Amino acid sequence: MGYFKNIQLNNFRNFNEFQIEFSDKCNVLFGKNGCGKTNLLEALSLCIKGRGIRNDKITNFIKKDENSFSNIANFVNENIDYEIKVISELSNNKLQKKILLNNEFSSEVNKKIQSLITYLIYLPENERIFIASPTTRRNFFDHFIFSNNNKYSTLVNFYKKNVYERNVILNNINSDENWLTKIEENISNSGIEIYKNRKMQVDLFVKNLGDISKYFNTEFKVALEINDPFYTEKLNIDKYMISLRQCREIDKIVGGTKFGPHKSDYIFFVDKNYPASQLSTGQQKTLVLLLYFSQCNYLVNTCNKKPILLLDEICSHLDETNAQLLLKIVNQFDMQVFMTGTNKDLFSFLSTNTNFCNISNK
Ligand SMILES: Nc1ncnc2c1ncn2[C@@H]1O[C@H](COP(=O)(O)OP(=O)(O)OP(=O)(O)O)[C@@H](O)[C@H]1O
Ligand SMILES: [Mg+2]
Repeated sequence: MGYFKNIQLNNFRNFNEFQIEFSDKCNVLFGKNGCGKTNLLEALSLCIKGRGIRNDKITNFIKKDENSFSNIANFVNENIDYEIKVISELSNNKLQKKILLNNEFSSEVNKKIQSLITYLIYLPENERIFIASPTTRRNFFDHFIFSNNNKYSTLVNFYKKNVYERNVILNNINSDENWLTKIEENISNSGIEIYKNRKMQVDLFVKNLGDISKYFNTEFKVALEINDPFYTEKLNIDKYMISLRQCREIDKIVGGTKFGPHKSDYIFFVDKNYPASQLSTGQQKTLVLLLYFSQCNYLVNTCNKKPILLLDEICSHLDETNAQLLLKIVNQFDMQVFMTGTNKDLFSFLSTNTNFCNISNK
């Protein structure tokens, strides 16, 4: 897997015209609040399918009072240079994001980009993931699955679309029984597939975190569970479809499908069923960093994939142990890393070959 050489932003967020060069190792983007650090990470994240690290609307990417944005990144993989152009485009009166690889646009191009780039993303709110809402935790967890399986987001979108469609049909007086059954079959198939992926990720974390805790001599013995009364490993399509059929009336009244992977949560325990949510803020940070270490270790050493790390404001609550853990993540796997922070001094624990970029958008 490769690295970004540079990126050029045009009318993107707060940037009019802006260009920046990167190191293939560690890059620190620092500067005062509002200078555009997170926007830069977002621009990188938009080089693959999706709406980026903020999951925002395309109109919001365009600089205020402008009509479109156009970013160009140069990416290198196995000594081959690629130009990735990300633009906004009006199509059928709808604003869309379009990605071109070496000026080419096709579904093949999308696949190629997916095979070239894998991100692991850390956002400031991830520090409090154990006390966040189940939805935030689910999305956080899903992003790890996506880093190893780029078809996973298509699966989740397909599932969500069918859950939505079922609600529409249930509320339609002339609902078509055959069509409703087909939709429920789609929900059951994709729902079970999502559960399988999540269970695999849970098992992976439990295994890797166990190994890593020993390695780092941390005080945590992590246990992790999917918290979902509907889910069992024995769940099959028939059972799923029967449950959906039985709940039609009640789902019609409450206005939504009341069980399934869109309602799941995860619980992390450390040491004898002590929930991670009870740890101190800094200890929770250690656990989060261990999750990232574990996933990097798995992607690099088992899947032969090198993710690019986009770590937004990762430096809060870093005591000596946490700083060393972050340093391990940055140094151990030879990946390209981007970190942001308001002050260069926050990154004094990093080695001297870090590329420090002062972001000031004049
Ligand atoms: N579409 C837009 N047009 C113009 N400015 C925008 C647009 N979207 C966001 N901004 C502005 O971009 C600026 C930089 O935002 P960003 O989140 O990147 O800051 P930051 O450097 O990460 O700051 P912090 O240290 O506070 O996290 C903000 O002032 C924001 O209001
Ligand atoms: Mg920011």
